[in-house]
Amino acid sequence: MKAIFAGSFDPPTCGHEDIILRAARLFDTLYVVVAENGVKMPFFSMEERIRLVTDIAKSHQLSNVVVARAEGLLVSFAREHGCRVLVRSIRNSRDLLYEQNMASMNRRLDPEIDTVFLPARHELADISSSAVRELIALGNLPDGIVPLIVRKAIENRHGLLT
Ligand code: COA
Repeated sequence: MKAIFAGSFDPPTCGHEDIILRAARLFDTLYVVVAENGVKMPFFSMEERIRLVTDIAKSHQLSNVVVARAEGLLVSFAREHGCRVLVRSIRNSRDLLYEQNMASMNRRLDPEIDTVFLPARHELADISSSAVRELIALGNLPDGIVPLIVRKAIENRHGLLT
């Protein structure tokens, strides 16, 4: 079975990496789709985000992971690629409300496509891309929040972090 794990990945974090690893074990093919959230202004360019997610997948030698970009509706991408499952991650009760809403909307857009929730690992549940962006701006990004590959890309772009 094919599934899609989509997100803004701005930037990808250790939480995203964990979900990619777990979902890749559950499905025959996992499309990791870098998409735009229409209400968020991206910090990293689409090309940078695709490269970072690709490097994460390569670093784990995940042969069943395909990194792609989606324009427009995610359900259209899913239909075009023969996927009927969207994977989303839940860190806390606030995510649950937001994700239930998005899952319902996607089901309304295409009733053939359903959403599967994976709980975030407890020790990664406090991580978010916006917290990472804030820590980058403050020049202090502790280890264990983003994969090493992402940290190196951030250091190249923003100078040395502590
Ligand atoms: N670990 C770390 N962070 C996690 C996480 C985990 N396990 N699970 C969720 N998050 C965080 C992300 O870091 C992100 O944090 P931020 O808001 O601080 O940046 C947040 O949860 C949610 O981000 P993301 O997963 O990128 O979702 P999104 O809500 O920004 O966008 C899309 C989701 C891109 C998939 C959605 O907007 C989409 O489908 N767009 C295409 C257009 C479309 O079809 N729209 C209709 C949708 S109903």
